[in-house]
Amino acid sequence: MKYSHLYSPLALGDLTMRNRIVMAPMTRSRARQVDDAVSSLQVDYYGQRADAGLIVTEGVHPSADGKGYNRTPGLYNDHHVAAWSAVTEAVHERGGLIACQLMHCGRVGHALNKAEGARFLAPSAIAAAAEIFTESGMMPMPVPDTMTADDIASVVDDYRQAAARALKAGFDAVELHCASGYLPAQFLATGSNQREDDYGGCLDNRLRFVEEALSAIISETGPGRVGLRISPGNPYNDHIDANPLETYAALLALADRLGIAWVHAIRMPSTGIDSLMLTRRHFSGALIGSDSFNAAEAEAFIADQRVDAVSFGRAYIANPDLVTRFASDAPLNALDKRTIYAGEGAPGYTDYPTLALGG
Ligand SMILES: Cc1cc2nc3c(=O)[nH]c(=O)nc-3n(C[C@H](O)[C@H](O)[C@H](O)COP(=O)(O)O)c2cc1C
Repeated sequence: MKYSHLYSPLALGDLTMRNRIVMAPMTRSRARQVDDAVSSLQVDYYGQRADAGLIVTEGVHPSADGKGYNRTPGLYNDHHVAAWSAVTEAVHERGGLIACQLMHCGRVGHALNKAEGARFLAPSAIAAAAEIFTESGMMPMPVPDTMTADDIASVVDDYRQAAARALKAGFDAVELHCASGYLPAQFLATGSNQREDDYGGCLDNRLRFVEEALSAIISETGPGRVGLRISPGNPYNDHIDANPLETYAALLALADRLGIAWVHAIRMPSTGIDSLMLTRRHFSGALIGSDSFNAAEAEAFIADQRVDAVSFGRAYIANPDLVTRFASDAPLNALDKRTIYAGEGAPGYTDYPTLALGG
């Protein structure tokens, strides 16, 4: 076998991955806008990709307030549990593992994308200086509400309840989205967090929300079924911190203390921070690396112990049988950019051909 490291099993907390190929979390905006539920479309999509060592779902909001983007799925009521159960069943039927990525967008979003009356919650009333897609075109982001102490406790409990629902829906694990300028990252960053209470100011205070959110999730799942997604220094969604190296070193040390199963780090050379090296230095659990890997580079990084597993995003959109293709060095289908987020379902979602079908 050419890629013997990529195709070896990996202990990931309480789980064992059968290979080290992870499907990266990717928002595809095909959930039902009317009730934030997944449908048979997502059952097919994730089921087709179930031979990955681990699938991490698209970002899933733990409450109506946590939604930011159009047609993204939720996990905050029994109906969502039932809908996701069909997805996890399809993945388990093929022997796969699937983690639910919990994504609270905080100040990122637009009212047109959310249920009527849903709030924009953030550490401080500072709008993200960025635009977001809506069905009426690109729009500036709103000024969010400053979260009260009660709001914070309530959102932390939303994460806890979503973790409990994830287990009920058959998910094997939960990944907290703490990257790309969403709510947990908004608390970490000095640009978006200008609070003067226990949740703002010094680094320990800025870490507190993430610590509480992770602890709430762990209280339902145990630490061995929890992952954390990070992208230190990534300015996406106006995510600006005075000292990301220091902030993320402390966050990783916290993740280590909590004993979670994995950190899923996006490497982003443009930030000047080597997030993989930083994670290895401060976190002793498994490290999943992400961003622009191909099979040969993933194999080399695992062989050198720079990462334990690698996630693939765009390649997985276009290649449901990526695990088979890598094994035989088969050419990959090209990504059709026009259908990445197209709201109307199957085209560009569940109809990419497999090798077996001559694709
Ligand atoms: C269409 C699309 C949607 C994405 N949505 C998410 C998301 O919901 N959560 C997340 O953590 N990352 C998200 N990402 C980032 C990917 O998980 C991954 O880090 C990125 O695509 C780089 O990996 P790649 O070069 O293998 O595509 C998204 C990326 C793409 C292309």
